[in-house]
This record gives sequence, structure tokens and C-alpha cells, in this order.
Amino acid sequence: MSKIVLVTSGKGGVGKSTVSALLGEALAYTKSRTLIIELDSGLRSLDVALGVSEQILFDMGDIIRGSCSTKDAVLECPFCPGLSLITAAAKSVSVTEDVIKKIIAEMGFLYDYIILDCPAGIGTELSEAAKCSDIGLVVTTPDPSAVRGARAAGAVLASCGVKNRRLIIERCPLKAKKLYPLNNLDEIIDGTEIQLISVIWEDPDIRNAMDSGEPIDDTGLNYENFRALAERIRGKYIPLGFK
Ligand SMILES: Nc1ncnc2c1ncn2[C@@H]1O[C@H](COP(=O)(O)OP(=O)(O)OP(=O)(O)O)[C@@H](O)[C@H]1O
Ligand SMILES: [Mg+2]
Repeated sequence: MSKIVLVTSGKGGVGKSTVSALLGEALAYTKSRTLIIELDSGLRSLDVALGVSEQILFDMGDIIRGSCSTKDAVLECPFCPGLSLITAAAKSVSVTEDVIKKIIAEMGFLYDYIILDCPAGIGTELSEAAKCSDIGLVVTTPDPSAVRGARAAGAVLASCGVKNRRLIIERCPLKAKKLYPLNNLDEIIDGTEIQLISVIWEDPDIRNAMDSGEPIDDTGLNYENFRALAERIRGKYIPLGFK
């Protein structure tokens, strides 16, 4: 059965969908079959990032209404063999624990990892998804309001029984690279009360890749960081260091 990896943040726009897409690509690169389920009803974006917009016939809304089978809504990423997506409902629908568990039951034997890309916020959608998850990745940027949101999201995960919670600091300014491990990053980690698993640098190439539906450059700033993140999710010990 698949391992279920939830990606959340509390505050919006911090990089959850970016992490979901690039972690998915990095996992697929290791030959781990990976399905991303986008839970952001009414606000889909991963179809663009994974270059599958033209393929969409069915989405999460169709699965929930029963107008297609789960399998019919699975889209294969054209540039990343082993990576698939169920795109978010085009209109707002509520995605319950039962719906997510049904998809996991139907698709779990086909994938090593299922990534749940959550919408922003700490409401019922987060707790419903959390009840289905093995690992909770909490994404924050260095902004104090995002750090506060991450702490709140981490608390929701804890209250839903997600024991394995890890922090990703996204869009980190490159100048922090020189300063690490001085207070700036440590303060973020302390502020969220979540153990760090990865730091992702602010990098215009990431935005370009997400907007163009192409993979990130394998010589880019964050390529190795996502590879290392995928290996850590797979249970390998990769020391936290900055490339
Ligand atoms: N490391 C990065 N460097 C530069 N831009 C980034 C980085 N990570 C994400 N972005 C950009 O930040 C914006 C928000 O990212 P993303 O959509 O992944 O956030 P989100 O948390 O999923 O947002 P939402 O809460 O709306 O779902 C996007 O334009 C994305 O391309
Ligand atoms: Mg998103």
C-alpha cells in the first residue's frame, strides 16, 4: 500500500503545490510510483505545473459525484514517467476523509506514494486529509505570519494523530545560506515547533517551471534539495546541508 504524504501550510501561497509537484517528480525519479491528489477545490494549479491541462476529462469533483471512476481521473505527467495527478475539482466541493480513503483504497496498490496537496487554511479540509495521512509536511516561508500558520497547521496534524510531522522552509532568501545555522533559520524552526526536513531557496527558475509545465533544470539551485527531500521521505538518512 502507498505511504500517504500530506502537504499543508496554514498560510496561503507559501509553496505547497510547488513542493507537491517537485517532491512528486523527485520521488518518481527514484522509481517510486507517485500520485498527487490536488485537494484545492476550485483553485487547481498542478495541471499546469505537470503539463496535463489539455488531458483533463475528469477531476476530483467527478469522482465525488460518481460521474467517473477514480482511474478515469488519473492523468500521467508527460515529462516524468511514474508521476500521476488527480486534479482538483473545477468548482468548490468538500473533500471528506471518506472520499480520500476511497481513492486510497482503490489506487493504493498502484503507487508507492500518494501526495495530498492541501488548500491553505486549518479548517475541516485539513483535518479530513490529516486523518488519512502517514507523514505531514508543513510548508512555511520565513515570514512571521507564515511561521505562525505553520505552527497552527502542525497543531492540527498532531490533534489528528499525524505523528510524523516535518517542516519545509520554502522561498528562503539565498543570503540565509551564508548565515546558516545562525538564528534566522533556527528561529523559524523554533516558531513552528516542527523538525526541519528541507530548505528550498527562492529561485525564479522554480516559478518558470511551475508556470510552463516543464521539469526544473537539473543544474538549478533546488534540484538536489528536492532529490534529498525525496530520499528522506523514502527513509534514507541524508544530512541537512546546503548545496
Ligand atoms: N522556491 C521558490 N522560488 C520562487 N518562486 C516560488 C518558489 N516556490 C514557489 N514559488 C512560487 O510561489 C507561488 C506560490 O506557490 P504555490 O502555488 O506552490 O503555493 P501554495 O502554497 O500551493 O498556494 P495556495 O495556498 O494558493 O495553494 C507560485 O507562483 C510559485 O511558482
Ligand atoms: Mg496550492
